[in-house]
Amino acid sequence: MISVAMDGPVGAGKSSVARESAKKLGFIYVDTGALYRGVALYTVRKGVSDSDESFAEKVEALLDEITVEIKIENGEQHIFLCGEDVSEEIRLPKISMVASSVSQIPAVRAFLLELQRDIAKKNNVLMDGRDIGTVVLPEAQVKIFITAAPEIRAKRRFEELVNKGVETTLEQVLGDLNRRDYQDSHRAAAPLKMAEGAVLLDTSDLTFEQSVESVVGLVKKAMQL
Ligand code: DC
Repeated sequence: MISVAMDGPVGAGKSSVARESAKKLGFIYVDTGALYRGVALYTVRKGVSDSDESFAEKVEALLDEITVEIKIENGEQHIFLCGEDVSEEIRLPKISMVASSVSQIPAVRAFLLELQRDIAKKNNVLMDGRDIGTVVLPEAQVKIFITAAPEIRAKRRFEELVNKGVETTLEQVLGDLNRRDYQDSHRAAAPLKMAEGAVLLDTSDLTFEQSVESVVGLVKKAMQL
């Protein structure tokens, strides 16, 4: 099996570039952020707030009740939370920051680890997240750290949200993005960082198509070795 690990900060184009590159390669695309978002949605529904003092303990106590599954339907990933398809709901901006908060809890990371590894055992995957090259799939044949300047990432994310009909401002999106990047890269458990052996792909000056071409090119090159 071939595994491609793609990590990077918020709005680097990870999911769109990864999805299209996986399609071109005939690999399964796995968006691991969706798993953390699933856990976050559950905690929000249970009324647990990430500003609670005992947030980590409360979330840990909920893990026994939670089942998160990934299913691929018509080539698209769907996330099921306790049997319910929550693929749309987990994308709401209010879930993003909570996802970042639950992802700091080691028990949550451990809870989701085997699920991610299992998929890679059975399929050729292009998996994106924050710790794929460092923790989840350290043996991945290709590791890519995808990034772009914060203002560019905020602009892309802003346009994506506006297209979905979400009301927000560029300043709000940039602020959220910086807060989440800081939290994701400064946590103790599996922080966002470039994996050893990863290729840095800065998409600031690349079009979407050029970014996809770069990823596909890197994977094809590695497969020929
Ligand atoms: O990729 P995303 O924005 O959907 O991810 C949501 C949050 O989940 C992100 O802020 C950090 C966390 N995450 C993580 O800790 N490890 C991963 N492999 C993927 C996401």
